[in-house]
Amino acid sequence: MLLENLSYVEVESYLAEKDTILIPIGSVEQHSPYGLIGTDFITAESIAREVGKRLDLLVAPTLPYGMSQHHMGFSGTVTLSPETFTKVIKDITTSLLDHGFKRIIYINGHGGNINPAKNAFDQLKYEGKKGIFTIISWFLLGDVLNLAKELFEDKEGHHATPSEVSITKYLRPDAFKNKPKNEKEVEDKEFYWPLSKEEFKKVFPDGRMGSAPWLATEKYGKLILEEATRATIAEVRKVLKMPLV
Ligand code: NI
Repeated sequence: MLLENLSYVEVESYLAEKDTILIPIGSVEQHSPYGLIGTDFITAESIAREVGKRLDLLVAPTLPYGMSQHHMGFSGTVTLSPETFTKVIKDITTSLLDHGFKRIIYINGHGGNINPAKNAFDQLKYEGKKGIFTIISWFLLGDVLNLAKELFEDKEGHHATPSEVSITKYLRPDAFKNKPKNEKEVEDKEFYWPLSKEEFKKVFPDGRMGSAPWLATEKYGKLILEEATRATIAEVRKVLKMPLV
């Protein structure tokens, strides 16, 4: 069920029965020459919508923009500052709380969003807001990490991973027609985090972080998407069982 397709009357009916909503969030940022700029929100949206379908939960429109400051050295990246991202998450959460939603679950496709989202939740709680606000990052769930390790071993890396690129390849095969296919060296570099956009480009010149995105296939994508959906459902179920204070 997609929020964007309902009338307010239908939202009222939903709220008479349920108190949960899923919101996909991602980023608009470089994913190396091999992956799509939209990778993080495309994956999060697809997983959230499938979870919503299987658990019969409402899914809000996707927030595509995220906190991607360290990727600004690469063309096409669009970032929100951490402060703005935190404010956007606060405003979305507050709007949904105002209507009676009580379990607000962000389904996340981008690591840079985690700290500013949690910052928003901390601020909302400090302001006395009631309800459960949480963020589930599909790519960090144990079963997904295990599958990635099984499929790509030490070539999964940390950014522009063959896992996320596989999912987008499965969902949007046409977008990959002109992407490169050549293999490059995979290095596991040591660095301090965070990095500025200049430092990031110096350490990771083509935007990959220890990954081999050329290993991505549609077949793996289907497999990883299913595992990510299943693992996310398990996490969402925990939130559904959690008593409200
Ligand atoms: Ni990504």
